[in-house]
Order: sequence, then C-alpha cells, then structure tokens
Amino acid sequence: MKQNLFIKIFLCGLLLNGIYTNAQKTNLEVNVSKSITKIQPTMYGVFFEDINFAADGGLYAEMIKNRSFEFELPFLGWKEPNSDRHKLNTESGIAKIIQYSQKETNHNYCRITVNNANGYELINEGFRGMGIKKNLHYNLSLKAAKESGTISKIKIQFIGKDNNVLGETSITPTSNDWTNYTAQLTATATEAKAKIKITFEGTGVIKLDMISLFPEDTWKGRKNGLRADLVQLLYDLKPGFLRFPGGCIVEGKTLAERYQWKKSIGNVEERETMINRWNIELSHRQAPDYFQSFGLGFFEYFQLSEDIGASPMPILSCGMACQFNTGELVPMDQLDPYVQDALDLIEFANGDLNTVWGKVRNEMGHPKPFNLKFIGVGNEQWGPDYIDRFKVFQKAIKEKYPNITIVSGTGPSPDGDYFDYGMTELKKLNVEILDEHYYKDPAWFRKNVTRYDNYDRKGPKVFAGEYAAQSVATVSPDNKNNWECAFSEAAFITGMERNAEVVHLTSYAPLLAHVDAWQWTPDLIWFNNLESYGTPNYYVQKLFSNNKGTDLISITKDGKAITGQNDLFASAVKDMNSKEVILKIVNAASSAQNVSIDLKGAKLNPNGTALILKGDGLNDENSFVSATKISPKESEFKLNGSKIQFSFPAYSVTVLKIKMK
Ligand code: AHR
Repeated sequence: MKQNLFIKIFLCGLLLNGIYTNAQKTNLEVNVSKSITKIQPTMYGVFFEDINFAADGGLYAEMIKNRSFEFELPFLGWKEPNSDRHKLNTESGIAKIIQYSQKETNHNYCRITVNNANGYELINEGFRGMGIKKNLHYNLSLKAAKESGTISKIKIQFIGKDNNVLGETSITPTSNDWTNYTAQLTATATEAKAKIKITFEGTGVIKLDMISLFPEDTWKGRKNGLRADLVQLLYDLKPGFLRFPGGCIVEGKTLAERYQWKKSIGNVEERETMINRWNIELSHRQAPDYFQSFGLGFFEYFQLSEDIGASPMPILSCGMACQFNTGELVPMDQLDPYVQDALDLIEFANGDLNTVWGKVRNEMGHPKPFNLKFIGVGNEQWGPDYIDRFKVFQKAIKEKYPNITIVSGTGPSPDGDYFDYGMTELKKLNVEILDEHYYKDPAWFRKNVTRYDNYDRKGPKVFAGEYAAQSVATVSPDNKNNWECAFSEAAFITGMERNAEVVHLTSYAPLLAHVDAWQWTPDLIWFNNLESYGTPNYYVQKLFSNNKGTDLISITKDGKAITGQNDLFASAVKDMNSKEVILKIVNAASSAQNVSIDLKGAKLNPNGTALILKGDGLNDENSFVSATKISPKESEFKLNGSKIQFSFPAYSVTVLKIKMK
C-alpha cells in the first residue's frame, strides 16, 4: 500500500516536472531595440499568371468568349441552335466566318445570312456562362456592316437556363460600312450561367465583329476594365510587387507561342488572339476553349500594379520555350529581337515622352512613367542554354539601364542538379535576384523553415517567386487549399521573414482559379462568374503582408530562433511608422500551447491586439458558402509589464501587435 502511494507520488512528480519543463520550454524572448535588418517593401507580393482562366474569363471582365471569332476554331463559344451547318441554306439562316484577307490581326468576322427573322439565333456561352446581377448594367459593343436585305434591328438578350429572357437591348444597324455600335443591358435577375442571344429583325446579310460585353461595375469603374471583386482581393493584400504575366505562359510551348508584350498593347481590337499555353497542357483538366485575347495586356498589368500599390515585375521570354514542352531554343545569333524587347519594355514603362515607347505609353493614356524597377529574364529555365542567354540580356540591360534590377531563374525545383547548377553559374555572374520555386508537401514547408539561415548574406537576394504547399502531390488535381497547407506555408514564411536580409520578395502561386475552368490547384483565390473568395492560404499571405513591418527584430527561445521546437515557429518585426511590435507565431501542434513572451528594449502599451487564424482541423477549407470561415479573428490581450502570457490554439497562426510608447 505504502509502496503504491510512493509510486503515485513519484509519477506525479515526474508529470509535474514535465509540465514545468514544458513551461520552461515555452519562454520566448523578443529584443525590440535592435533592428537586425530592414524588411523590404517588396517582401510580400503577388504573382499573376493567365492559368485557370485568370485573365480572360477572370480578372479581365469581358463576358463574351471568342468575341472576334479569332480562335483556332473560329466559331468556338458560339452556337446557332436553329441552323443546320451541314445544309447549303437553312430555313432560319446561317453564320459563316470570313477572313479579312489583308489584316495581320483580328483576321475574321462573322457573316450572317438571316432567312427567317423569327428563327435565326446566335448564342454566345461566355466563359462557362456569364455572371449577371439583378439591376446591374452591362455595356455591349459590336461592329456591324449591313451587306444586303432588310435587317433593321439586332436584338441582344441575356437568357437563363430555360431560355428565359433576363434583360435585353437592341441596336439599329444603319450602314453598309463597318460601324461601331453600343447599347446597354440591365439584368432583371441574378444568374451565374447566363448566355447572350442575338436575333434580328428583317432578313438579309449582315457582318458582325468584336461583339463585346462588360459589366459597368468594374474596378475603378474603368470602361472595359477588370473585375472589381478580384482586384479588391488583390488590393487588400497590400502587395509589394506584381509579377506578370507568368509563369510558363511567358515561355510558350513553342517560341511562336511565347508571350510577346508588344502584341499585347495598343488598340484592344488589334491585339492578336493566341492560344493559351494551359489550353490542353494538363490531361486531367483540358480546356480547348482557353485562348488569350490580351485585353489584359502589358499596359493593363502596369496600370493594375499602380492601382494596387505594387511594384511591377514583368517577366520576359529569354529565347527558350518551356522546357517541360518543346524546349525550343533561339539560336544565340538570333537573340537580338528578344533582348530588344526587354530594352523597349523598360522604355515603354519608364521612358520620357520623346522616346518611341514612352510615346506609345502616353498615347495609351499614361504620360507618367510606371516606375519599373525589376525585370525578369526567363521564367523557370535551367541548364547551360539559359546561362548563355541570360548573360546576353544581363549585359545589354545593365549597359543601358544600370538601375534596373534583373531577376534570374533557378529552374522548377528548390534543390537538385538543375538548381545547384543554376545557383553556381548565376552567382558567378553576380546576379542580383534569384527566383526560386517550390511546390512541395506541407511537411516540407515546416521542415525547411531554416532554408535561408545559411544563405550568403553578400550573395544574390532571393525571390521566392512561386510556392504553395501541395496537399496530395505537385500538379495533382486533388490538391486542396486546406488549413494544413496554409499554416505550413505560414511556418515557412516565418523562416523567410527571419531571413529578410536575404529574402527580398515572396509570392504564392498560382493566384487565381475559375472554379469551373481551372487547370492547376491549389490556388490563392477561387472565383465563379459572380463571386470570389480567399483561401486560408490567402489569409496567411494577408496577415504577413499587412503586418510586414519595417525592421526585423529577434524572437528566440534559449537564444535560438524558433524553427519548430515544440511545433512552434516564429518571427518578429517592428513597424517604425505605426510604432508597433508585431510577432507572428505558428503553432503547428495538435493542442494549444501556453507561451510566455518577454519583450525587452521598449516601453509598451499595456494592451495589445491579437489576430488569430485557425481552421477546424487540418482539412478545413473556405468555400463560396463559407468564404471567410478561416480568416483572422481579432481580440485584445493584456501585457504584464514587458510580458505576454498567451495561449496559442492548436494549429493556428497568430499575429500579436503591441504599440510602442
Ligand atoms: O504556377 C504554375 C506553373 O508552375 C508556372 O507557370 C510555372 O512557372 C511553374 O512550373
């Protein structure tokens, strides 16, 4: 009996000791007074690529797919339900695509023969439908030329699932010459999958082109502009930079399909429609109707950067097509036009109004320079062919524009032969910024939080240009934007922030995905034709970006950085503008942890604000119905002198903010 009691007391002692030891382990110390390094204003940015219908069908608010009949199959997206295309002459009428012979861009128009005014219908299906909202206005424009007959009216209607009319307008074509017409529709109901139906009064032959439809309610109310809800989500991130337009889309499957910025500017009608590189790239999510109208082109990207307060970072082809595809190479002696494109782009963005390209920018409505500071040469290239080409760009850009910072790529992986080779060779060239990409499982992100601790402080700066935790496997269509992925990224970001001396820019990838038309998952923001929501990963980005501070300070446990001891990860900054100390703590453990934090070297307010982000378990996600389920919840906490006692919930990301006196 006595013996049993003794054992119980002994075990109890062990247990208490364990708890005591655990409490000891969770004493953190913050040195507020010493600024270790500056946090770059570019630390947290966004990377936009036209993948997942991010541009046409997404950010670019055009609602008509294949508006100028320029797709490879020029009638894709259009239907004539009452016509039989196999007959010479149908009762209702028929549309034929005609090629303008002499034009280089916008080759085609649609020539419609209306035989029966009550029968002929031309329908556009939109980008997996068109999202319309009750009582909102939609601006329609088209070009028309009457050829023969008595066509007196073009009727345009929104139709719903059962062909019910959800708003209508009409245009009176007056001329046999090509003429621009505009009209406005008001939606009588909200519908995510509406279509546009075009019918005619009278019979005869009429030619149509550039049939375009935009919501009136765009970002900043710009005519033919961008989707307001999506830009708002980007704006709310307060991104330090905008990397565009890709991604592999920069490279193209072939060189002919690379992104050429000069073709993406000027009059929208004259921008050459091109196949999207993600069209049939991934067998699990083919999208043969995925093309680029370039309505969202380089001018608009620069304008968007300005709108959201981000430093623009265009990425250009370096003369190598995607190495996952053809890997087609421009011979070295034919690289000049590619290099010239880079030099001209800098002039387009920054040149004064007397320069050739500065003048073009001015004509497009932006006399002031766009203040371009970064340019990327190549996307995810690897091997000696890249180094050879990079050198040529580097020499030419630095000779003419020594103040432009060049971003170079290290290939598709954060390690391995390609990465090591790229790193070694690029360091020899004294490159300024290395772009690293990692699409890895969540555990990798937690394990690699010390990745940058030993990077050479005097070497190139790091741009973590594309990263996202993959819940199943890289490029798996089953990947989810779940909470485990999000807090694992947060853990990794504390490691990047702790190394802000080396890591100057970071961005999640990809950014946007249409829920009915995506190719790649996970993605930061999901949208349908009416709504959008930020994933838990989005809120992680937002927490870090909105609280990036100005100076890195230390947060340690027993003198060491917090890199996963007891499943805790942490970084700390102070903001000299708002006079705040900001701590970011990730608890990756399955239970709450009580932590004591001692903040030394500053006089602090007795109250602080906590922003806690957490999900209900590892697989929890946001969705259209619970768009902000996993989003930061704000509360107040009290300090005891210089100390904070805080219980960090299981699987959570917490930002603690304390005002300095
Ligand atoms: O983000 C999707 C793709 O991943 C990018 O286009 C490419 O750079 C990377 O391989």
